[in-house]
Amino acid sequence: MTLSERLYIANNVYVLYPRFKEILAAIDDCHHFSNLKDEPECLFLKGETGAGKTTILKSYARNYPRYQTPDGTIVPVLEVTIPSPATVKSVVTKLLWQLGDPAYDKGTISNQTIRLIGLMKDCGVSLVFLDEFQHFIDRDSAKVLKTVSDWLKDLILDTKVPVVLIGLPEAETVFQFNPQLSRRFANRHNLSPFSWEDSGREFRTFLHAVESQLPLIEESALAYEEMALRFYYASDGIVAYVMKLIRYGTHLALKYGQKKLDLNVLANAFEKYVKADKPYKKNPFIDSDFLNEVKDASLYAPSMTMVGATSQKIKLKKKTTRASDILHK
Ligand SMILES: Nc1ncnc2c1ncn2[C@@H]1O[C@H](COP(=O)(O)OP(=O)(O)OP(=O)(O)O)[C@@H](O)[C@H]1O
Ligand SMILES: [Mg+2]
Repeated sequence: MTLSERLYIANNVYVLYPRFKEILAAIDDCHHFSNLKDEPECLFLKGETGAGKTTILKSYARNYPRYQTPDGTIVPVLEVTIPSPATVKSVVTKLLWQLGDPAYDKGTISNQTIRLIGLMKDCGVSLVFLDEFQHFIDRDSAKVLKTVSDWLKDLILDTKVPVVLIGLPEAETVFQFNPQLSRRFANRHNLSPFSWEDSGREFRTFLHAVESQLPLIEESALAYEEMALRFYYASDGIVAYVMKLIRYGTHLALKYGQKKLDLNVLANAFEKYVKADKPYKKNPFIDSDFLNEVKDASLYAPSMTMVGATSQKIKLKKKTTRASDILHK
């Protein structure tokens, strides 16, 4: 295998971990259950940046590619990133463009909306993904853009096509200001970062699954407790940082002719891809004090509540406390 083939593999590794699969199953229900009802069953997926929301969308949509028929293109799943700022004009234009309407930006908003409803029917759209739903909130004034959220509610009623909204947690505010839209999105899911619950069991299983797909010759033992803890501290359990460390680490390992990921390449990857976003953090792949501190904090103990915490500078609050929460105190 050539170097670029290996790099390609490293950059495209992805893992269907249990919570990821649960959300895919919920989207699948929303997609297919809606056919049976008058009002479509819509879904809202929230999660902080880097949690893996768009990856779930892409992973689902991959199973429903567009295809051609003698009568035109069929688009079973329509994926759109909501533009910023989100106005009715900008959203309807983006949807038409994504559906392949050559005159996507032409006509009044009403004309465009009528064209969109017709095109969605002609193209056999049976599910719409709208990513970056927080763009329904004006960035400067922090106000919910009521007109566009009303327009979306009407589109759902007119087309009867279920919509999956995806966005940052703050996007949920839109529902408080639009109860009619809220009612249609009662099915809500939160893609939270990995926790260290149960000694990081889910996180370590994820690391193991990623490692098994890496194009490296030797085992890097990423899921071993000590190494997993370093990753957990570095990433706060956010999959985007974990993957940055692993992908760039693999890139360096391949470049240096190494057979596995070691602390050296991971320390480099941390400096290059994580440090700028988290300048207050120590490099857990260099700093050996790091593990002692975590161990002192009894992060390994089944119960995360510390007894006699006053004699220690670190106090854990609850079971899901993150390694970084502890170390920044
Ligand atoms: N299950 C997974 N397996 C491997 N890598 C993943 C997985 N989920 C997400 N990633 C990686 O994590 C990174 C961030 O994912 P993604 O873009 O989906 O996050 P997001 O929640 O949409 O973030 P944002 O809110 O900033 O758009 C991507 O590089 C993606 O490849
Ligand atoms: Mg995204």
